[in-house]
Amino acid sequence: MSKSLSMLFTLVNKSNILGQIRYYASSALPQLSSEKYGIKRKHFSPLQQEDINYFKSIFKEGQVLTEESEVLPFNIDWIKNCRGQSKLILKPKSTEEVSKILAYCNEKRLAVCPQGGNTGLVGGSVPVFDEIVVNLALMNKINTLDELSGALVCEAGCILETLDDYVRERGLIMPIDLGAKGSCHIGGNVSTNAGGLRLLRYGNLHGCVMGVEAVKADGTIIDCLRTLKKDNTGYHLKHLFIGSEGTLGVVTKVAISCPSLPKAVSLGFFGLKSFENVLQLYKSAKSSLGEILSAFEMADNCAIKSTVENLKIPNPISDYPFYVLVETHGSDENHDNEKLTRFLSKEMESGLIIDGTITSEPAKMKNIWHLRESIAGAGLLDGYVFKYDVSIPLTNYYDIVLSLRKKLGDKVRNVYGYGHIGDGNIHINVTVPQYSKEIYSLLEPYIFEQVAKLNGSISAEHGVGFRKPQFIHYSKDASALQLMRELKRTMDPNGILNPYKVLPDV
Ligand code: FAD
Ligand code: MLT
Ligand code: ZN
Repeated sequence: MSKSLSMLFTLVNKSNILGQIRYYASSALPQLSSEKYGIKRKHFSPLQQEDINYFKSIFKEGQVLTEESEVLPFNIDWIKNCRGQSKLILKPKSTEEVSKILAYCNEKRLAVCPQGGNTGLVGGSVPVFDEIVVNLALMNKINTLDELSGALVCEAGCILETLDDYVRERGLIMPIDLGAKGSCHIGGNVSTNAGGLRLLRYGNLHGCVMGVEAVKADGTIIDCLRTLKKDNTGYHLKHLFIGSEGTLGVVTKVAISCPSLPKAVSLGFFGLKSFENVLQLYKSAKSSLGEILSAFEMADNCAIKSTVENLKIPNPISDYPFYVLVETHGSDENHDNEKLTRFLSKEMESGLIIDGTITSEPAKMKNIWHLRESIAGAGLLDGYVFKYDVSIPLTNYYDIVLSLRKKLGDKVRNVYGYGHIGDGNIHINVTVPQYSKEIYSLLEPYIFEQVAKLNGSISAEHGVGFRKPQFIHYSKDASALQLMRELKRTMDPNGILNPYKVLPDV
């Protein structure tokens, strides 16, 4: 890829670590998704000049992008694996504008790719062919916050971190947190049912999201934007939009329940000698820390080592086979610190923890989290990353990393595992100097077969997107897939919303 394209990404997103990783990572333009994965274009209408003229007539400047250099970043996903060929990016500013776009596209049989912050890791956020990208970035108003109940209502394009800053000033936190918080949208989080770093404590979005407003493929606005904790009137329609990855509707507003800002936060970062000890430590943390435990994350040596080396981020402790990050959210600093310190000394004595550090200092905690969150992108600097995100019963959680290392040997640069132990969710990254079909076919469907054998899920939190529809049967049986197809047909009879994603072709 030319230097100018790298520059473009930097301009788009220079302000945070995500932008920096994208900038320094491989500068090669990814191959077109349709060629790389052998996909045939479906029978949608091709975009005409009159369509562009129509959108230009109803929108203001800056809302309709057609220049090649302008549309390119919206066509490429965060890990630079997928590249679409959209020639038109629309940036609506209101629900009514989303409705107008979809009504027109449905009528004309033009395909659409809904897009939030474009941090998705399964290729769902970028088009495959010439789908029109509907990017929600300009729908970023915070509507209301009920400080008593914690109910926040906002537009779908609000950036997660901006929302968190806003509610923190008012004594609350967002119930979800992830490494992509500086770029991802709340609408994208809802559409992917994102998990993140504190699901263990605050639950998943099916529990925290109180209501959504969404637009169906034909432009109908569906108002399920309630801020009630309890509402058993009929079918729970909001759940259709949570995790459906833009295939059933475009989420335009979200009502979400925000927990209280914890008065005391502490963080421990520990070195361990084996994965067996990681599991034992998790069991002990649950019983010793109880209600204040807010995160229990693990990373293997290779994950931390390559993040330290590639991104020059310091590791606060020395070199160990496994690392564990334990966080507490509570209401009494002395009590929580004492609990965590007692936990550390007990488990150092027992030998589960070899070395560790505990801190309540915001700057130090930020640095430790920064190291953990940066693992996601560090591998991009090796060249190319094959990323997997699976749920496996905890006893077999790490087996797949070991079997992959054996299978791949020195054909690859690194194989590492890290993730959300508390959720039984491991991320496996395989890094190579550049994308290779040979490695791809060694990895897939092998990984999915192993996961299915263990009754796991082939996608724990990132979704199915473009990369996994052909493997969804490893986690969903034929009856479930049939019902999913029927729902899709009911809500989007012409199939214009995010085609080539989630559901496999029959
Ligand atoms: P996009 O990437 O733009 O879109 C994702 C999907 O949602 C696409 O299918 C898109 O079509 C659809 N979509 C987006 N907005 C809308 C909308 N308004 N209406 C309908 N459909 C829509 N994920 C986790 O679950 N846990 C993690 O811990 C985590 N950490 C990450 C760390 C990093 C560094 C990165 C880069 C990604 C991480 N992710 C994680 C993946 C990703 O950030 C999440 O899936 C996130 O929720 C995507 O939000 P987004 O706004 O970027 O959506
Ligand atoms: C994480 O937990 O860091 C994210 O889900 C991103 C990733 O899998 O790399
Ligand atoms: Zn994750």
